[in-house]
Amino acid sequence: MNYAQFEKQRSWEVQKLLPTSQKATVFSPSNIALSKYWGKRDIKLNLPTNGSLSATLADFGSFTTVEFDASFVQDELFLNGTKEAVINAKAKSVLDLLRAKASVRTFARVQTANNFPTAAGLASSASGLSALTAAAAFALGLDLPLEKLSEVARQGSGSACRSFFGGFAEWKKGERADGADSVAFAVAGPSHWPLDVIVAVVKETHKAYASTSAMEHTRTTSPYFQPWIETAEKQLALIRTAVLKKDFEILALETETNCLRMHASSQAAHPPILYWQPKTIEVMQMVWQMRKEGIRAFFTIDAGPNVVVFVEPQDRARCFERVRSVEGLQFLETKIGEGCRKISDNTKT
Ligand code: PMV
Repeated sequence: MNYAQFEKQRSWEVQKLLPTSQKATVFSPSNIALSKYWGKRDIKLNLPTNGSLSATLADFGSFTTVEFDASFVQDELFLNGTKEAVINAKAKSVLDLLRAKASVRTFARVQTANNFPTAAGLASSASGLSALTAAAAFALGLDLPLEKLSEVARQGSGSACRSFFGGFAEWKKGERADGADSVAFAVAGPSHWPLDVIVAVVKETHKAYASTSAMEHTRTTSPYFQPWIETAEKQLALIRTAVLKKDFEILALETETNCLRMHASSQAAHPPILYWQPKTIEVMQMVWQMRKEGIRAFFTIDAGPNVVVFVEPQDRARCFERVRSVEGLQFLETKIGEGCRKISDNTKT
């Protein structure tokens, strides 16, 4: 279902909204890192060992309504229509941070749904936690700049801090122990370089390792983790410059190398973490073959087996036809798009 259909249906609101409540609804997109966040220097605050830079996806993300009402006796979260037995710790920490800022103790009901299939393996934590942060802040009447929203969302899920910005967004590593400078900012808007995106969805044969435990396992057991962080900041600068200059060759080479170095660090963990499936490698090699033939496409892979292919608009049709010829996969097509946005709220009269 596309963005407009989803917005109109509001099917994520399985519980009736109360007339007495303060509420807000937002849509926040997923994002895919070209320069990856992989490693935490502070687990509690979600402070990264290195900065990262991502592209914001146009159509895929989370719709979230947050409602605060004095009659609620606990926080509740409904995900894709189903109530979580206990609200998850990440969502709770975001609600608590915002309640403290607003000096209120009212409980919240969160209703959220993703407009992409869960099996697509897109990071729903990025869209979900950024949507929750923005909706809760709006519902509480907090007028926070995007940078502050990104600081709060980061504490729920690191990659979420980048979803507030459309186009290309960077998350600064920061230096401070309290994390106040570890926030995201816009590098370039969606129209700067309107690359097309195809997600090749590869079936998982086992459940993927959750990103937090995989990062920690890699940080503590992989001899390749130190080299990874030593090169990650340099690569981030190269990728940022390539985006700003629209230098396709450098962006393609550095994005792929960054992805493969991140995966190499995990593959060298003890015991190893391997996210790829045979089809993952098949798509990677197909992208390299296409590039040799002059199709301007490159790939990246997050903590899972799916391959995300970016392609220049003039080569879109040829690239999509080739990638789609790989059997046994599902595909999602999108573009680079706008960041998190408000759909409605009732806090202002
Ligand atoms: O924010 P998390 O905890 O879901 O971690 C995201 C990690 C990667 O997707 C692999 C990289 C990134 O920068 O998004």
